[in-house]
Amino acid sequence: MAPRIRHDGVLVVGAGLAGLSAALAAAPRKVMVLAEAPLNHGCSSAWAQGGMAAALAFDDAPSLHAADTVAAGAGLVDPARAALLAEEGPEAVRLLAQLGAPFDQDGKGGFHLSLEAAHSRARVARVKGDQAGRAIMAAVTAAVMAHPHVEVRTGQRLRGLLQDEAGRIRGVLVDQGGRLTEIVAQAVILATGGIGGLYAVTTTPAELRGEGLGLAALAGAQIADPEFVQFHPTAIDIGRDPAPLATEALRGEGARLINRDGEPFMARYHPEAELAPRDVVARAIHAERAAGRGAFLDARAAVGDHFPEAFPGVFAACLSGGVDPRTAPIPVAPACHYHMGGIVTDAAGATSLAGLFAAGECASTGVHGANRLASNSLLEAAVFGARAGRAAALAEAGELRMARTITAPLLPPSALAELRLAMSADVGVVRDAEGLCQALGLLDRLELAHGRTADLTAARLTVTCALARRESLGAHYRADARQTPDHPERTFVTLDALPPAPAPCLAAE
Ligand code: SIN
Repeated sequence: MAPRIRHDGVLVVGAGLAGLSAALAAAPRKVMVLAEAPLNHGCSSAWAQGGMAAALAFDDAPSLHAADTVAAGAGLVDPARAALLAEEGPEAVRLLAQLGAPFDQDGKGGFHLSLEAAHSRARVARVKGDQAGRAIMAAVTAAVMAHPHVEVRTGQRLRGLLQDEAGRIRGVLVDQGGRLTEIVAQAVILATGGIGGLYAVTTTPAELRGEGLGLAALAGAQIADPEFVQFHPTAIDIGRDPAPLATEALRGEGARLINRDGEPFMARYHPEAELAPRDVVARAIHAERAAGRGAFLDARAAVGDHFPEAFPGVFAACLSGGVDPRTAPIPVAPACHYHMGGIVTDAAGATSLAGLFAAGECASTGVHGANRLASNSLLEAAVFGARAGRAAALAEAGELRMARTITAPLLPPSALAELRLAMSADVGVVRDAEGLCQALGLLDRLELAHGRTADLTAARLTVTCALARRESLGAHYRADARQTPDHPERTFVTLDALPPAPAPCLAAE
């Protein structure tokens, strides 16, 4: 049996912006943050290039930001949650600035704000072109490390959830270098990130494989919208895993998408060309590549010699792959970037399981719908992470009467590699029943060989619900069923009540 330790406070699993925002907000309650990687590594927040969207300009208002968020989400955003996100946004950005995040200034005492696709106002607070995630995380990490009530333990991989007789989540099972430990607490906040590591091409740390999502689902938590996966159009295609990102801001600056013949092809796909919605641009790049014409982001005229100062992160990534973006177009490919689906939470981060909270990419707060608005993810992590922290700090769980430990192994490397290829090929930018059924068949086979692992469970939620949604909506594009519904509905599922496989899948078995 694993040794058990007791923590008289809140456990936060994950140390991205959502997890650390939750930890800071939960104090003065005692908080223990558990992370696998050293702080500022292994989390998507630190890799974010865009920035934080918030109604900070004199000509902007939270209601306008909320309206843009709802419009981007293709009919599936919860308007009340979007309003909450937008209303609390400006304060969240100011708080991070107070902690030391060096947002670009406008020279008049305000934030310098950038316009991004699908925003009706310039409202993205950035840091030196593409440095927002790194700089924000450095500031928040320093605040957490200096906080007397927060203890951080790294090198801890989440392996299970402890559930008591009443069904309440009471702690976690962690693996530290092969040594398992149970940590019992008053409440658990999962801030374990997304599912990028389930895809062969991803812009997120590859270790993010939906473990929190999978374990919560195995414990019986309600899950929403797992079929909605956002693919970033312009991951830099230099054979690196994960693929470095070429921020959308480059297209905002005027960079063009061209194919191997030098044709700027976006006008063939959408009237707004390079500034079309993210999913449209991702599909256009996918189509050019599938047709053998290739896709490249040409920033030579728009950024040129300014690259090293204007976009230092993208510049360094390109050079590492032998591409000088001042003189050559950048080869690009769509990549898994963000999971809109996740563990269902209320406005305070509480899940359907008592004692369990969720925040950040692994949660579904209802603000992203079928397509997340650019630069809303760091904002959501800060706003709803803090809300989850405040709510979890009030939890009192009482005497522990343990019922079970929900554990799930992870796939071994060769099986994971097979899964990642299948997810990118069959559950990617363009989907159809045939490919999704093939992916489901692979999941069945891998589950038979390796058991119900957390990563397979996260993949099963995504694939099954993608098969069940026989329509194209937002980031979920079905080549075999293109119509978009007039009144789309969100998906709400639990693992024991997943939609059945449709007839074509069953016939193929
Ligand atoms: C980007 O900089 O292109 C990504 C921003 C985001 O995903 O919100």
